[in-house]
Amino acid sequence: MNKPNIYITRKIPEHLIKPFKEDFNFRMWDEETIPIPKDVLYEEAKQADGLLCLLTEKIDKEFLDHASHLKIIANMAVGYDNIDVAYAKEKQVIVTNTPDVLTETTADLTFALLMATARRIVEAADCIRENKWGDWSPFMLAGSDIHHKKIGIVGMGRIGKAVAKRAKGFNMNVLYHNRSRKYKIESELGIAFQSFEELLTESDFVVSLLPLSDETTNKFNRSAFQKMKSTGIFINVSRGGVVDEAALYEALVNNEIKAAGLDVFQNEPINSTHPLVSLKNVVALPHIGSASVSTRENMITLCLENIDYVFAGKGPKTPVT
Ligand code: DGY
Repeated sequence: MNKPNIYITRKIPEHLIKPFKEDFNFRMWDEETIPIPKDVLYEEAKQADGLLCLLTEKIDKEFLDHASHLKIIANMAVGYDNIDVAYAKEKQVIVTNTPDVLTETTADLTFALLMATARRIVEAADCIRENKWGDWSPFMLAGSDIHHKKIGIVGMGRIGKAVAKRAKGFNMNVLYHNRSRKYKIESELGIAFQSFEELLTESDFVVSLLPLSDETTNKFNRSAFQKMKSTGIFINVSRGGVVDEAALYEALVNNEIKAAGLDVFQNEPINSTHPLVSLKNVVALPHIGSASVSTRENMITLCLENIDYVFAGKGPKTPVT
């Protein structure tokens, strides 16, 4: 029997593919940092039975109509807003993502970004790099405390819970908002459910861990930022599309909120010309939430295992439902 053809849309390490080589024919885009051009992806997808792709690939109706052999799309991300999942289902193409393996790593980065923003770590490091450290003074680079403050987590999924645990370690008062209440997590961690509006008004730190959907697009808009404390800090580690970036910019320059830590943006990649990056009270990162070497390796392996399971007739390990 012919081996299934699997196309991988970015160069990934050989040692991760090796264990699966006996069962599959792999082809791969040979660049690690440059996304595959649309015409190449479309050409390759014609022959593919399975696809391992990244969040940089737009898997829409046009693509799914074109890639007629596909049985599985293994997305190397927990988020899957780059994929038209409903249409994939209609076409009987299985979609998988990479939950769990990135939870703790992404929660670490969320907390690192929160701390860097509150304590002005990037500004402080730049001050030395730019030879601007003058004499010590009482309020030089003074930031905001984290311990004993209120953190409001919007989106209480796996990563939200892992962030809440970290916050508890800092003696923070943890509030959360989620579509459905998580009674078990509330009692396990001692955290409190609030309406979105109450959470915005009460929190010192508002942390977005919301997946992107029609419902969450621009959820953090002008009215949301106006409800936050003027000392409040906004952190986004989910998707740029949940934030109205113009409204966030306004809120920051008008001192309606104090600072923002952003790992994600509406149109990635961004560069130094992005208005938010010009602000001293913004810490901007290039979507590195899950970027530890071992977590990225685990994400790739989980994608390959999903493909393997599907072609072995076992059903996917982590399907998007
Ligand atoms: C995800 O998994 O959705 C992240 O944004 C990338 O790790």
